[in-house]
Amino acid sequence: MNSVQVYVCTTCRTADEPLEPRDQRAGARLFVALTTHAGSSFEIIAVECLSVCKKPCTVSFAAPGKWTYVYGDLPADTSAHTLLAGAELYAASVDGLIPWKLRPDALKKGVVARVPPLQVSDTSLQG
Ligand code: FES
Repeated sequence: MNSVQVYVCTTCRTADEPLEPRDQRAGARLFVALTTHAGSSFEIIAVECLSVCKKPCTVSFAAPGKWTYVYGDLPADTSAHTLLAGAELYAASVDGLIPWKLRPDALKKGVVARVPPLQVSDTSLQG
């Protein structure tokens, strides 16, 4: 299993999209695009809501020992390659911090939050 996990909110939808069918929502389409293009490079994980609902689509990068990033405002049908390029940079970083100059524009504009790595004192829980 790849240590970088890319979480994709599959329930994100744009203001003009209907509630149903759920598998046609923007987030669901982005999830399909990412899984299609990522191959085995990253673990692409579908989640329902990252609490950034007003900025569809939303995605998060996470890995053991690294900062977690949350991004929003990602167009469903054109963001897969940009996100995978960003995930490559994230994977290559020691701590998850992607240098600003290297970061794709969509990830500069779309960053919502960064969360420090989990501090685990119980060594049996460390990855
Ligand atoms: S519905 Fe996607 S972040 Fe809430």
